Amino acid sequence: MSDIRSRIIGTGSCLPKKVVSNKDLEAVVDTTDEWISSRTGISTRCIATSESAVDVASKAADEAIKASGLAPEDIDLVVTGTVTPDMAFPSTSSMVQSRLGLRSGIPALDVSAACSGFLYALDVADKYIRLEDAKNVLVIGVDLFSRVVDWTDRSTCVLFGDGAGAAVLKAESNGNGILSTHMHSDGRHGELLYAPMDIKEHPFSVKDEAKADDNGSKLREPSTLKMRGNEIFKIAVRSMNGAIMEALDSNGLKAEDITLLVPHQANTRIIKAMKDRLDLPDGKIFVNISKYGNTSAASIPIALDEAFREGRIKDGDIVIMVAFGGGLTWGSVAVRW
Ligand SMILES: CC(C)(COP(=O)(O)OP(=O)(O)OC[C@H]1O[C@@H](n2cnc3c(N)ncnc32)[C@H](O)[C@@H]1OP(=O)(O)O)[C@@H](O)C(=O)NCCC(=O)NCCS
Repeated sequence: MSDIRSRIIGTGSCLPKKVVSNKDLEAVVDTTDEWISSRTGISTRCIATSESAVDVASKAADEAIKASGLAPEDIDLVVTGTVTPDMAFPSTSSMVQSRLGLRSGIPALDVSAACSGFLYALDVADKYIRLEDAKNVLVIGVDLFSRVVDWTDRSTCVLFGDGAGAAVLKAESNGNGILSTHMHSDGRHGELLYAPMDIKEHPFSVKDEAKADDNGSKLREPSTLKMRGNEIFKIAVRSMNGAIMEALDSNGLKAEDITLLVPHQANTRIIKAMKDRLDLPDGKIFVNISKYGNTSAASIPIALDEAFREGRIKDGDIVIMVAFGGGLTWGSVAVRW
């Protein structure tokens, strides 16, 4: 393998305009600001009212391309992590390609890994770059979970928000860039967090319950998100810690070498548990969940963009991103910025 690495040279993000506070949610479900804040760390979230997934993804991507200093025609691959696209097809990536006037003919694809979607997309992009099949790649994480949550279920609807984030990767050979990617899935635990598709009946549909296999009966459930929060919580802490250790060990690094840990923003208590296990000081872990809630595949690129713009990441810094989500999926990406 060559010494080419994928360097992040631009980031961007976009949040829908409508801000919904915990107080606003008190009028929707039987909950309180106090419960949501103390159990999750979330105060507000942004909810798409008029914006589509392609709208917010395109704005985030446009910002990332501008920040990178490249022109739209320089992009030669688009990879998007999402599980709440506007369309089954065309892909979000193809629609962003068209919206931003990227070169026609370049490959564009979406990756489905729920809240780990952005890291999976980075992993795909990194492999294209290191195999020298692409030089400049647009990577997007976008999700509008307001579309899939059950707005009558207080145990889930208060947790999620909508948004998009993006990064531009460039092939470079100066030692900086993505150092390692470690992606995982364990489909045996898929039932802990899932959202069925809205599948239409057709003239040959089998209606007899007895004839449906296990998955068949899930397919007939309402197409809203279902989650077993307590079980997810424990597995999330364990899996993300494991993925951080893989990132450190594979690069000969120790926890104290981390400049900034950018974790998926699902719950402040999950983030705190990771911080405590690694014995990281507050300044070395990025947390913005109180403003946006869990934005699924958008959470890490939004956090990355904010961290960079706040001056918390500089050239040569060691940044570790770690995610966990439905699938179950999880993984880490280590970067020398
Ligand atoms: C969902 C989560 C916040 C729940 O927190 P928790 O402390 O485990 O709370 P529990 O589920 O044990 O519920 C405790 C009580 O609060 C109640 N409750 C749940 N949601 C509530 C809400 N929005 N408002 C008020 N009460 C609520 C429950 O009904 C329960 O009441 P009971 O004791 O009378 O039965 C937490 O489990 C979590 O964050 N899990 C991880 C989820 C996650 O991150 N998923 C995405 C991964 S990408």
